[in-house]
Amino acid sequence: MAYIDVKNLTKSYQMGANTIYANQDLTFAINEGELVIILGASGAGKSTFLNLLGGMDQADSGQLVVDGTDLVNLSEYQKTEYRRKDVGFVFQFYNLIPNLTAKENVELAVEIAGSQLDAGAVLTSVGLKKRIDNFPAQLSGGEQQRVAIARAVAKQPKLLLCDEPTGVLDYETGKQVLLLLQDMARKKGATVVIVTHNAALAPIGDRVIHLRDAKVEKVELNAHPQDIQTLEY
Ligand SMILES: Nc1ncnc2c1ncn2[C@@H]1O[C@H](COP(=O)(O)OP(=O)(O)OP(=O)(O)O)[C@@H](O)[C@H]1O
Ligand SMILES: [Mg+2]
Repeated sequence: MAYIDVKNLTKSYQMGANTIYANQDLTFAINEGELVIILGASGAGKSTFLNLLGGMDQADSGQLVVDGTDLVNLSEYQKTEYRRKDVGFVFQFYNLIPNLTAKENVELAVEIAGSQLDAGAVLTSVGLKKRIDNFPAQLSGGEQQRVAIARAVAKQPKLLLCDEPTGVLDYETGKQVLLLLQDMARKKGATVVIVTHNAALAPIGDRVIHLRDAKVEKVELNAHPQDIQTLEY
């Protein structure tokens, strides 16, 4: 059985008399340990799906089974546990806590997840050994994103969800970030889902899910994903 099984998943918003479908009848599967790219134009429904998968929002209908459990059936308490322990999040604008240092940001996540990892060691692994005691405002965008990745990785999540993680980064920094995310899948066995509008990232995914107007347009499998070092985007 697939690690993530999405069946006829639908999420809509009511705007006055109009119903806006953000996700309509999505059906696809994702295997454990895959690096997945969800690709689509602005408004295609990418973030909506990621929020459903992260247990941050509730679908109207359909199934969203993760590791054998349909998220639709979880109680609020179980969903909170799922968000805390099973899922790591990386957002476009980092979402670090401004009055905590890099290390404290990571430590907080470690505590919430009940993980055993050392915050300093994880920050060192993303190349931030010398920045451990800096506050977010004292760090560059790429450094802040690496803190955000360290924070997500330190939870040792089964599932790492990333919404436009390289959206505001320059080319080389973006590649470094993608390499860290790929390592999570290849070396730690996490399932990593990256949402982007940038089609140039598609070749690095084991699986590429194309969303268009709230629907799945197609799903592609790359038997030999491209090496990020040689990626041009
Ligand atoms: N809370 C909401 N209320 C009403 N409509 C919403 C809401 N959230 C999303 N939508 C609509 O659902 C559709 C999908 O939005 P979503 O944020 O998932 O797109 P996206 O693919 O992430 O786009 P982007 O690349 O711009 O971030 C859009 O038409 C959006 O306007
Ligand atoms: Mg979005």
